[in-house]
Amino acid sequence: MDPMISPIASRADAEAADAADALAPIRERFAVPEAIYLDGNSLGALPAGVASAMAEAVNQAWGQDLIASWNDHGWWTLPGRVGNTIGALIGAAPGQVMCGDSTSVQLFQALVGLSRANPGRPVLAVDAGDFPTDRYITDSVARLLGLTVERVDPNRFVPDGRTAVVAFSAVNFATGELRDLAGITDAVHAAGGLMCWDLAHAAGALPLDVDGLGADAAVGCTYKYLCGGPGSPAFLYVAERHHPSLDLPLAGWHGHAEPFAMADRYRPAAGIERARVGTPPILSMIATEAALTVWEGVSLSDVRAKSLALTDLIVTFADGHLSPFGVEVVTPREHHRRGSQVALRVPHAFELSRALIARGVIGDFRPPDVLRLGVAPLYLRHSQVWDAMEILAGVLAANEHLDAVFARRGGAVT
Ligand SMILES: Cc1ncc(COP(=O)(O)O)c(C=O)c1O
Repeated sequence: MDPMISPIASRADAEAADAADALAPIRERFAVPEAIYLDGNSLGALPAGVASAMAEAVNQAWGQDLIASWNDHGWWTLPGRVGNTIGALIGAAPGQVMCGDSTSVQLFQALVGLSRANPGRPVLAVDAGDFPTDRYITDSVARLLGLTVERVDPNRFVPDGRTAVVAFSAVNFATGELRDLAGITDAVHAAGGLMCWDLAHAAGALPLDVDGLGADAAVGCTYKYLCGGPGSPAFLYVAERHHPSLDLPLAGWHGHAEPFAMADRYRPAAGIERARVGTPPILSMIATEAALTVWEGVSLSDVRAKSLALTDLIVTFADGHLSPFGVEVVTPREHHRRGSQVALRVPHAFELSRALIARGVIGDFRPPDVLRLGVAPLYLRHSQVWDAMEILAGVLAANEHLDAVFARRGGAVT
């Protein structure tokens, strides 16, 4: 296990860490919520510059300039521009990332595209514990292409000569476990397979190097650590070496070599431009582009160091103060196996997540018994995380969460 770097074990320690925090000024770039927000791994906080960018897009570009805005306000080039900005955050050289659609759609594109690039092999491998959409899309792609899905444990998976494509998440959505990205990618390649990483819980949470890894494709969303807003468009990375023969399933007109020639047949655009599909959600993508400016001048090594300090704080506090209440840390303790969240297994986790919200601490619940606490280093303070843990201890000690009011499960989103 890696050593913990000066673990924060008191509020004074947390205040000292805030005073020394290289990322503290970045918080000013956000309209931070009043609550202690530990759910940035689900929906990131609102960057302060988004509102004016949206007002300009609505009032001027849409309201006045209308159709001319495709050229005059750069709407046509927006998906590739935002793609390149995301690329810089995941270690992709320009021209390999396209922004658009949802992660589910991009995963479908990637898995079909990579399967077609690796014919004659019958197996798609997916993490048995991955986010549902990853499992569902993989199953559907296999049905479509006549392949077989193997649901595997990424830590024990051994690819072989039957492996066509492997789809794993870099960080598991429930446990927060960070996979061995390099080791897995190398093993898949050694067996002749192709590797697609889902970076939903990794992009903006830790330094990534998709080019250096040699990943074949990667997908991810922009509404978590990248703070693009509710429903903000996802991204697809495909390594340049695959571009010339890349045969994506969604042959939409925006990905055509000459979209305005209105040709009879599809002919893919060169490079990653072929990963465009149809008309993108321009307003949402403008919000995403404005949101991504919060990353200017931010070092992802600083983000990672602060993220580990914050998750160490939660782990240390849980071990020291919460085990009498049946709380167990699920997330790996080794830094190299941890993303930017801590999953706590706890009795009545749903009710606890609700009671915490009533006390101004927003985390979330994942079935059957996990309280997820995500830490987004750009806008969280160490002292806030300390306070959240003290509030959590107080709620558990007083059994506040057992009040019947917190057991109610109304609405589609739990
Ligand atoms: C690993 C992973 N993939 C995909 C998604 C979401 O996909 P979509 O953008 O299609 O809703 C999530 C959402 O939390 C996720 O955790």
